[in-house]
Amino acid sequence: MDPRPTVPSFPNGFLWGAATSAYQVEGSPLADGAGSSIWHRFSHTPGRVASGDTGDVACDHYRRWESDVDLMSELGLGSYRFSLSWSRILPDGRGRVNRAGLDWYARLIDRLLERGITPNVTLFHWDLPSALDDRGGWLSPDSPEWFADYADVAFRAFGDRVPMWATLNEPWVIVDAGYLFGVNAPGHRNLFEAPIATHHLLLAHAAAVERYRAGGHPHRIGLVVNLEPKDPASPSAEDIAATARAHAYFNEQYLDPVFLGHYPPELRAIFGEAWPEWPAEDLERIRQPIDFLGINYYTRALTRFEPERPPVFEARVVPEGAVTMTTGWELHASGLERILRWVRGRYGDVPLYVTENGGAFEDPPATADGRIEDPLRVECYRQNLRACRNAIEGGVDLRGFYAWTLMDNFEWNAGFSQRFGIVHVDRATLRRSIKASGEFYRDVIATNGAALGP
Ligand code: FCB
Repeated sequence: MDPRPTVPSFPNGFLWGAATSAYQVEGSPLADGAGSSIWHRFSHTPGRVASGDTGDVACDHYRRWESDVDLMSELGLGSYRFSLSWSRILPDGRGRVNRAGLDWYARLIDRLLERGITPNVTLFHWDLPSALDDRGGWLSPDSPEWFADYADVAFRAFGDRVPMWATLNEPWVIVDAGYLFGVNAPGHRNLFEAPIATHHLLLAHAAAVERYRAGGHPHRIGLVVNLEPKDPASPSAEDIAATARAHAYFNEQYLDPVFLGHYPPELRAIFGEAWPEWPAEDLERIRQPIDFLGINYYTRALTRFEPERPPVFEARVVPEGAVTMTTGWELHASGLERILRWVRGRYGDVPLYVTENGGAFEDPPATADGRIEDPLRVECYRQNLRACRNAIEGGVDLRGFYAWTLMDNFEWNAGFSQRFGIVHVDRATLRRSIKASGEFYRDVIATNGAALGP
């Protein structure tokens, strides 16, 4: 008899992965006939990205992809989540297909499959082709069809080989940071634009799902959103009301239309006259079954009323004594369990994946024997994965987990200042070294979660 106590475990077939996105890791953004994206433009606009960093080189994954796949094998990854660069495939955003761009992804996908690593492909992780931004970007009523046409090119090329597709990554961030507060590309600050971009993104998602179904592709398609529980910072009526608004705006704005066929009513109050009356047939179209939902989770938000921050009038508070990431986010693993349970309760039993989770922490210099000890990141994964396990035990249909991120990379407007990788990337040499968190994750994968302990 085995004398060891049994440790609660993950279901058989649970998918263990790591995630990246095209602009954050690839580099060579204009190579082999690729067109410019809004992130290429934005990062080359002085003052937009910390330290003037750009994705020109990023992790040089475009050229080092083969050794990067070796690294994934070394970690034992069962799946790799990455995104396609729309403007590598369609340099002008529509029309002419750039064969060389498609071929690069074909080689990557084939190699992953050879290694037994399931490709999980995101069609849009924020890098809109500049040529389409020049035509209005997500504000254009044509944008959903542009996206569906691009998606169709990808489905035809890889639909047989890619078992998991996601349409959009984090539409909330695209709109809040890109169109409302202007801190991400395309850098607009416009209350009236935000609801329009939201609606077109949701229609784009729906149009791509329709194309996928119409093409008879044999696998699964879903959507990836970022979620976080909102908790009031005090029992004051103002803080409680701000928390309710923040919750509707952040957690329900995109999921209510997809699963319930309507926007949360709070949005009308939040956006006032900037919130249009949307045609019922649009909402019909947006509400169509998806095969899975991807959830990106980093933190919860303790929320207070903030009179200076329209339109939601809320701000985030970090409680005293909390462990924080270098992004300022609170490490709060129980929030992950809560949000998974909330999704199941509100939207029903759609299969779930945690498509991003992790944390940015300062990495100490390598030890004499070349190790990078990152105990806070190890702790972050341990706690968050235990939260996933609890959710599964509580009946949540969680089928996989992706670490954000495979390797330190270009963290959008923060440039290279934030290290989220389980693999360290030396900025001068681009040399990769697996961190202690990467070794920990490798053990978790090898034991299907038993290495997390009880
Ligand atoms: C998410 C993004 C991802 C990365 C992490 C830290 O919002 O999807 O690209 O920037 O945050």
